[in-house]
Amino acid sequence: MNEAAARDALARAARVVVFTGAGVSAESGVPTFRGAGGLWRTFKPEDLAAPAAFGRDPRLVWEWYAWRREAVARCRPNAAHLALARWMLARDGVALVSQNVDDLHERAALEAAGGAEAAARAAPIRLHGSLFHDQCTRCTYRVHASAPVNASSIDTLPHCPDCGGLLRPDVVWFGEMLPVREVQRAFAAAATAEACLVIGTTGAVYPAAGVVHAAKSAGARVVVVDPGPTEFDEIADVKLCARAGEMVPLVVA
Ligand code: OAD
Repeated sequence: MNEAAARDALARAARVVVFTGAGVSAESGVPTFRGAGGLWRTFKPEDLAAPAAFGRDPRLVWEWYAWRREAVARCRPNAAHLALARWMLARDGVALVSQNVDDLHERAALEAAGGAEAAARAAPIRLHGSLFHDQCTRCTYRVHASAPVNASSIDTLPHCPDCGGLLRPDVVWFGEMLPVREVQRAFAAAATAEACLVIGTTGAVYPAAGVVHAAKSAGARVVVVDPGPTEFDEIADVKLCARAGEMVPLVVA
């Protein structure tokens, strides 16, 4: 019943904003942050995902990111990523906003579209960057990282080909600003959305979580797919307590 209401709300909406978090990738084997087995249960973000941590010990931070990069590279998009990608390729008016850095939405789009040009239509707006991109700590150089990082010593860490500065992972760390253009695009999509599909996020991290509240304020029907409690449950028009890989293909059919 709830599922049918969700499918109906999403199908009727001319414009939809989809907002995803770590839970959409859980069935791909990517750990979440706050639940059982979550990264922030084992690691302290201030030791590994903060500018001060990188300043103190760039080798340690790179070691952790190199480990995550390798682990995530072995994961594959699941049924939720693929259903969203196919849906976006098949219809207009869907903006996908993700807090995830795992690139699984991008890989699903590529798989569903069969080529990079067509896949652009199903590309996510990445609010927190990408595990697979590096940026220079001194200049504006950014690159898609192709070689594995050797974090065995400070000398083997990657450096900028333009200015020689140390490279860092191109992800948003605690206390840092989100990328301005992506934030603008995400909130613009929320402001005109008639429906908002939220998948696999506790909704605890701002400003990202504000996208869902902005959509709700603009009159969007809010559908939440998450097996656990979330900060959005009170504003949800439909809450589907289910795993993303099982439920998302049913509601975006
Ligand atoms: P969390 O770890 O806070 O939340 C994960 C959510 O996924 C929880 O609500 C789970 O119930 C849900 N979940 C677990 N398995 C699921 C499944 N199979 N299907 C659907 N949902 C499932 O992760 P986020 O909310 O994404 O920020 O965390 C937000 C931000 O906090 C991250 O982007 C990261 C982190 O610090 C930065 O790195 C800047």
